[in-house]
Amino acid sequence: MLKPHGNRGLVNSVLTADDAAKFSGALNGFQKLEVSDELLLDARNIANGFYSPLDGFMCSEDFDSVLNCMSLKDGTLWPIPIVFDLAIEAAKLIKEGSQIILTQNNKPVAVMQVEEKFRYDKIKYAQRVFGTTDAAHPGVAQVFAKGDVLISGKVSVIDNNYGEFSDFVLTPASARKLFSEKGWRSVVAFQTRNPPHRAHEYLQRCALEIVDGLLINPVVGKKKVGDFKDEIILNTYKHIVENYLPASRALLGVLPQNMRYAGPKEAILHAIIRKNLGCTHFIVGRDHAGVGNYYGTYEAQQIFDGIEDVGIKILKFENSYYCKSCGQFGTDKTCRHPESEKIMPKGTIVREMIKTKTMPELEFMRPDIAKIILEHQNPYVA
Ligand code: ADX
Repeated sequence: MLKPHGNRGLVNSVLTADDAAKFSGALNGFQKLEVSDELLLDARNIANGFYSPLDGFMCSEDFDSVLNCMSLKDGTLWPIPIVFDLAIEAAKLIKEGSQIILTQNNKPVAVMQVEEKFRYDKIKYAQRVFGTTDAAHPGVAQVFAKGDVLISGKVSVIDNNYGEFSDFVLTPASARKLFSEKGWRSVVAFQTRNPPHRAHEYLQRCALEIVDGLLINPVVGKKKVGDFKDEIILNTYKHIVENYLPASRALLGVLPQNMRYAGPKEAILHAIIRKNLGCTHFIVGRDHAGVGNYYGTYEAQQIFDGIEDVGIKILKFENSYYCKSCGQFGTDKTCRHPESEKIMPKGTIVREMIKTKTMPELEFMRPDIAKIILEHQNPYVA
């Protein structure tokens, strides 16, 4: 099976029950730090190997190297910093070289071995990762809202429960085991943050024609206002997997991660994570992980042209639509008809459908999928 990113094996620093038990008591003697859900999510992702070869939050050398060269300090491709931020006052209480227990509602979740404390330049971070410093960009806004100090160090996880969607989380170790049990030698991953429209399905089916298995791998986590709620994405995809795709060739598992909307850079991170899951192929379509008009339609595909070897095959798809003259889905690569013949999947169609509570065209979305969405009073993140 495909080697994890960085060729060093999968990171696994989830503590065994015995080791975790040391931290389950009153925690007297340990320095505690109550942290945000966002940091705990990344701590769990590190410990479960999603970010292999990273085994902790980034140090200043890796951080600078990611911004300057899009790689870790050892040269391994890496597009977006994975960092632990703190406000200046909180950082004063943390000593380099100390061990701290990260808590949520006072309960221990992870242990961090603090190696380094450093300041960083948020403007440079935003510019290099998002290609803009516009605070209206949701990813840039996330960076600007971070504390002014970063701490680095290895993390081990005491409580590995991802919360609400824990049962659907597919970790790299479990994904690799599943793929091998199913006998899939090639697996394509489909990243998404939306319920499925027919063009999404078209990409998945095209890819499934050339590989053994399809992993539908929606991102579940913090999203911007106006995006779809996680439960809707999950419920609609459950319906697709259970009713349309061949049981022996497709599966659904979620990726617990916050969207950063970094377009091309996020496409690389998405590909690395899917490589760690054991996938051999990854779909990148139009405006992958994009937002507004910050990125060109195919920028998230073009960025891979400058990379020698990501270690996972990128399947690039052009803008897909239903063509009335062809009577089927396709792209400009396979269809010769004018714009007037094309039904383009657009966000505005879904918004209209939800506003007026009416079924969209069959060629845009399956009625049973539309029905699941319409059953929700408010399907959007508020
Ligand atoms: S994303 O933020 O996860 O990229 P979305 O869920 O809409 O958003 O897209 C999932 C994947 O499908 C991405 O690779 C995206 O580029 C691709 N995609 C979405 N719509 C189309 C389309 N009409 N044609 C080609 N690719 C598409």
